[in-house]
Amino acid sequence: MARVRWKSLYALGLDRPTSWSWIMWTAIFSLSLNIFWLIRAFVHRTPPNVFSDWEQLHNLSLVNEDALRDPNPIHNHGNVIATSFFTDEFATAIATLGHSLNRVNTTARRLMMYIPEQVSPRGLCLASATGFQPHPVERIAPPDDGKGVYQHFIDQYTKLRLWELEEAGARGVVYLDADTLVTRNFDELFALPYNIAATPDVYTNKKGFVIQFNAGVLFLRPDAALFRDIVKTIPTAKYWRHEAEQALLNTFYAKDVVRLPYAYNANLAIKARSPGMWEGIKRDIRIIHYTMVKPFTRDNKNYALVPMGELEANARRRGKSEFGGIFAEEMETWAQAWRETYTTYEAKLESCMLLSNKPGYQLQ
Ligand SMILES: *[C@@H]1O[C@H](CO)[C@@H](O)[C@H](O)[C@H]1NC(C)=O
Ligand SMILES: *[C@@H]1O[C@H](CO)[C@@H](O)[C@H](O)[C@H]1NC(C)=O
Repeated sequence: MARVRWKSLYALGLDRPTSWSWIMWTAIFSLSLNIFWLIRAFVHRTPPNVFSDWEQLHNLSLVNEDALRDPNPIHNHGNVIATSFFTDEFATAIATLGHSLNRVNTTARRLMMYIPEQVSPRGLCLASATGFQPHPVERIAPPDDGKGVYQHFIDQYTKLRLWELEEAGARGVVYLDADTLVTRNFDELFALPYNIAATPDVYTNKKGFVIQFNAGVLFLRPDAALFRDIVKTIPTAKYWRHEAEQALLNTFYAKDVVRLPYAYNANLAIKARSPGMWEGIKRDIRIIHYTMVKPFTRDNKNYALVPMGELEANARRRGKSEFGGIFAEEMETWAQAWRETYTTYEAKLESCMLLSNKPGYQLQ
């Protein structure tokens, strides 16, 4: 039989069995490649694009009329600088952030949203030692029991409660993630007559600089009714679940976001992608965002609280040893800010250490 088949192939001009096997291997290769791309398309489905897959999720007017009529928006008593404190690991980082705000003479009220069940009296005491007023909030759980959300973003939907700060008298809010440090006054943000502003994000993978914003620094006009509308869209809106509230907010506000310059959210990833541009923005930087290396954690996996006496050296060590030392200068900036925080607030910080470090305890 086989001999007969080869014979007919010879008739087609394929005169050697090796040509036939070559064709077979090409066909198998091409088929496998197709299967590979199909699987890839399903497993790594491209996340919805906030512009080309745009959804109407709100009916806000573009300009915030109340803010537009405010004769002195920079000194409005409703201006608030907010941060979030969801686990004890960030306690000393928030104390340092608070001190960095003191140094630039900001006049806005400072609120620290925290989840009472998840932080300890000690953590709360440390984090609020330098000027943040604790503001308890109820956790907002991620959809589908957190399926698909990056582990370190598991509490992040709770950040949406920023919009509820209207009930605490807030009219304009600058939100800062706990891993940020302020190096210059940014009060000019409070004059924005818009509902939302943020800095475009940057990734270290092939995505690089993108148009979607990073939610580590936000300017927003809180609105309690809108808060309820945003929360309603959590399970239904089309967004990349991995990135939790950041992806949701990019979808919710999409076309309406005022893009802030990189100096307002000087994410370390910018320096990794474009050291030249980092040099260019350096003198204007208001807020450094320690994304790739957190000076107050041991490494990027172990977020356990570093003892206060070791923090300065820890920041310097990580600055020198990681990513070829490209962040040494920014780590040094943080180390000095921490040293100043500690020298200024030593008595208060040390008294916090006498409190319980068990999460969920009520402050006496
Ligand atoms: C916005 O307004 C339109 C027209 O009044 C309405 O059909 C739509 O449901 C509204 N959308 C939202 C999200 O409120
Ligand atoms: C903050 O205010 C103090 C006291 O008025 C002043 O000495 C200092 O220079 C100010 N700092 C900045 C960054 O404006």
